Amino acid sequence: MIKKGIILAGGYGTRMSPLTKAVNKQLLPVYDKPLIYYPLSVLMLAGIKNILIIVNKGQLRQFRNLLQDGSRLGIKITYAEQSKPRGLPDAFVLGEKFIGKDNVALILGDNFFYGQSLTKKLKSCLSLKFGCKILVHPVSKPELYGVAITDKKNKILSIKEKPKNSKSNLAITGLYFFDNKVVNYSKTLRPSKRDELEIVDLLNIYKRKKKLSAEYLGRGGAWLDTGSLDDYYNTSIFVSTLENRQGFKIACLEEIAFKNSWINKKDIKAAISFYGNCVYSNYLKKLIK
Ligand code: DAU
Repeated sequence: MIKKGIILAGGYGTRMSPLTKAVNKQLLPVYDKPLIYYPLSVLMLAGIKNILIIVNKGQLRQFRNLLQDGSRLGIKITYAEQSKPRGLPDAFVLGEKFIGKDNVALILGDNFFYGQSLTKKLKSCLSLKFGCKILVHPVSKPELYGVAITDKKNKILSIKEKPKNSKSNLAITGLYFFDNKVVNYSKTLRPSKRDELEIVDLLNIYKRKKKLSAEYLGRGGAWLDTGSLDDYYNTSIFVSTLENRQGFKIACLEEIAFKNSWINKKDIKAAISFYGNCVYSNYLKKLIK
């Protein structure tokens, strides 16, 4: 059972400059909350309480101001700094001590997931004992993502990073589940032409060993990547549309922690004074009425 998760929340956010010149992308607002709330909520929905957040060098204080050590959410958050964006598998090199002898989930700090059966699906992925599981989802522009080519029986035939002409529309989302071998495998990787350790190289190691499998998010699930400016604003629109229509918040961390019985009404009251007088606090007030 996977009990540990890493959020990779560094990167220069170049595609969103100048917004990201002074502020880490994962701290920018997606409608009514910072972007990092969304991937963090995914790990919490899955039941993961032990989380490592990897941030850019010099940006630790901003993340700590927001999330502290996680105890206010009934979870444990530790932090590591990445001196430069060395690529996604660098998460497992930096996270070696945190991972220890356990298996681990990785979520990219700019990924957004939503859907009715999401929690159930996540929980089933956490039962991974050996190998690696990726979550795939159809997209209209596969050339922007890692892509998986599968056969009729959903077996993965090949994976490629941002292929120019892809035969497949199945993108590899930024949520991965790994066994403990991931640490050693990541250490064997060498930087690619763009001077980064590549996630597809890591996934290909598992594929060669026949230990790579895919889970489908399904058409009813939404996966949005907030990497580009348009995608980023579309995610805000998606969140505001659903929240205002339904009256429920997406990725309200305190609500998830409360429903998981990780925090109590007293903790919610403390959260309300932490956030101050705002719409988010009003929602929390309604939760404990
Ligand atoms: O979003 C899913 C896609 O994410 C996958 O389909 C691709 O296979 C995968 O390579 C990745 O592609 P991106 O081009 O979106 O990756 P990007 O460099 O934008 O980084 C994703 C997040 O990870 C972003 O929030 C910044 C963070 N990051 C990235 C790198 C390379 C780090 O914190 N450190 C890093 O070294």
